[in-house]
Amino acid sequence: MSLSVLLPAAGLGERLGRGPKAFLEVGGKTLLEHALSAFAWAGEVLVALPPGYPQPPRSGVRFVAGGPTRQQSVWNMLREATGDVVLVHDVARPFVVREAVERLLKAVSETGAATLAIPVPDTLVEEQSGSYGAVIPRERYRLVQTPQGFRRELLLEAHREAIRLGQDYSDDAQAVLALGYPVALVEGDRRMFKLTYPEDLDLAEGLARTWNC
Ligand code: CTP
Ligand code: MG
Repeated sequence: MSLSVLLPAAGLGERLGRGPKAFLEVGGKTLLEHALSAFAWAGEVLVALPPGYPQPPRSGVRFVAGGPTRQQSVWNMLREATGDVVLVHDVARPFVVREAVERLLKAVSETGAATLAIPVPDTLVEEQSGSYGAVIPRERYRLVQTPQGFRRELLLEAHREAIRLGQDYSDDAQAVLALGYPVALVEGDRRMFKLTYPEDLDLAEGLARTWNC
């Protein structure tokens, strides 16, 4: 089974407010460098960068221009990928737990489509005009992470259908599910959090000090 790793890195990091997160340093390395070293074992690696940003010199990695949305960035990589299976991983998640990736790959080889996800740790409540509203049974919900993995032909079909319908999904599992194809949920890891807000930088710097996964 050949594998292509697609690394969407073309976002502008607007909520974090420090420019594109791919070039942000944590633990002395950019988030892009974290992702490239986590997946250095993969046969084929593609990265979507924000258009106009310089491509770092890296052998064995193909850089493509990202699009205005995550889905379009993934599409720009997917149409050039050649593996039987593709793994899509947000560069904004610099801490990649090897065992979680192995669990995911096993599920993808068995089912054709899987994503990492974690339970909701806190009480989940609907906000009603700034007040505490209806409590949602958190046991029924999961927080979705990446990597997500799919048979390449399946993800291609899902993206083509999303484009045809004019849909723009925030992750690839949604596009596959919209085809009616089930996506397995595989136990993720809270350390694989996505750097999204400024305070996430402090969490990431702290974790980087002891990281050896
Ligand atoms: N991404 C991408 N192309 C886009 C938008 C997002 O490749 N047009 C990537 C980001 O680089 C990131 C992942 O998708 O690795 C998840 O996106 P997110 O956390 O939303 O990052 P940004 O879009 O950069 O942040 P923001 O939404 O705050 O601007
Ligand atoms: Mg975004």
